[in-house]
Amino acid sequence: MQNELLALARPEIVAMSAYRSARSEVAKGIVWLDANENPWSDGLYNRYPEPQPYSLVSDLATLYGLKPDQLLVTRGSDEGIDLLVRLFCRAGQDQILICPPTYGMYKVAATIQGAAIVEVPLLKEQGFALNLAKMLEIWQPGIKLVFLCSPNNPTGNLLAVPDVLSLCKKLNNKSIIIVDEAYVEFSASDSLIKYLDDYPNLVVLRTLSKAYGLAGIRCGVTVANPEIIQLLKKIIAPYPIPEPIVNIASNQLSLNLIEDQIKIIYQERDRLFGFISNLPFVKKVWKSNANFLLFEVSSSKKVMDICLNNGIVLRDRSSEYNLNNCIRVTIGSPVENTFFMEVLSRV
Ligand SMILES: Cc1ncc(COP(=O)(O)O)c(C=O)c1O
Repeated sequence: MQNELLALARPEIVAMSAYRSARSEVAKGIVWLDANENPWSDGLYNRYPEPQPYSLVSDLATLYGLKPDQLLVTRGSDEGIDLLVRLFCRAGQDQILICPPTYGMYKVAATIQGAAIVEVPLLKEQGFALNLAKMLEIWQPGIKLVFLCSPNNPTGNLLAVPDVLSLCKKLNNKSIIIVDEAYVEFSASDSLIKYLDDYPNLVVLRTLSKAYGLAGIRCGVTVANPEIIQLLKKIIAPYPIPEPIVNIASNQLSLNLIEDQIKIIYQERDRLFGFISNLPFVKKVWKSNANFLLFEVSSSKKVMDICLNNGIVLRDRSSEYNLNNCIRVTIGSPVENTFFMEVLSRV
């Protein structure tokens, strides 16, 4: 890694020797007497799993067009967020920069780590675009990480690629730019992974929780240059990926359901968009590049209550910056969406 980038990480993490778990020391053997496990394998799971299961890492590298040393598999991308904050931010000294309204875990991870939060809100009147000029104006050396989310949760818009790349370039050697692409498969845009070699301070977060339908197995991927990945491996728990996850993930990926499902999500997103836009109590619906829609109503509480009384659970985003009376609805199955529309028409 360039020395300047290495200098952004917490010096004590760069200097420390990682814990060497039994399976990270020797991966091949016949008689395993190194990890104090139970020798009987009736339950199939008597052995610790590989720290970064080889077959899962190679499946994900193929899926995202990466070399295996450019990715780290984590317990959901939430763990990637947490590890990045712990790697780069010194408690009481460093900060992260976020652009609200956005995904809540960046703030939570920073607060847990004792890192302060600097906010430069998205520009609501410009479709929640980045305020690039303001971000550069307020930047100062304590800001180690910039968290961007594209498509953004909960607003659903893509951030302009030239804005993101310009930020990477201008803050090269100064900050790590993390682009959370949890919803990118639902969007009209390619992943920024293809820019990884050109922008050493770019980190991309991906997940199997959304388009791949595997939220229940907690499988996220942090994509970065190999030196950052090496440092993250020092601080991740010794055996984060449970053995059964590997097979579940590779089976699901081999089924290749995603294309057909995304086509249906697109149709349903359009159908819901049209319906919600025409309701008298709806003030605005935002165009979405994700598998959800954000809409503003006269009273979010009233809509939430009526939906919940009919068993429909939505997310009231009123407490988020600039989103008073805004509700986020996930695009469900066609049957679920039809029921949701019926209930909405009764409001
Ligand atoms: C933008 C964004 N990033 C990350 C996550 C967390 O995903 P995972 O299930 O991979 O931890 C979510 C979950 O809703 C999200 O909306």
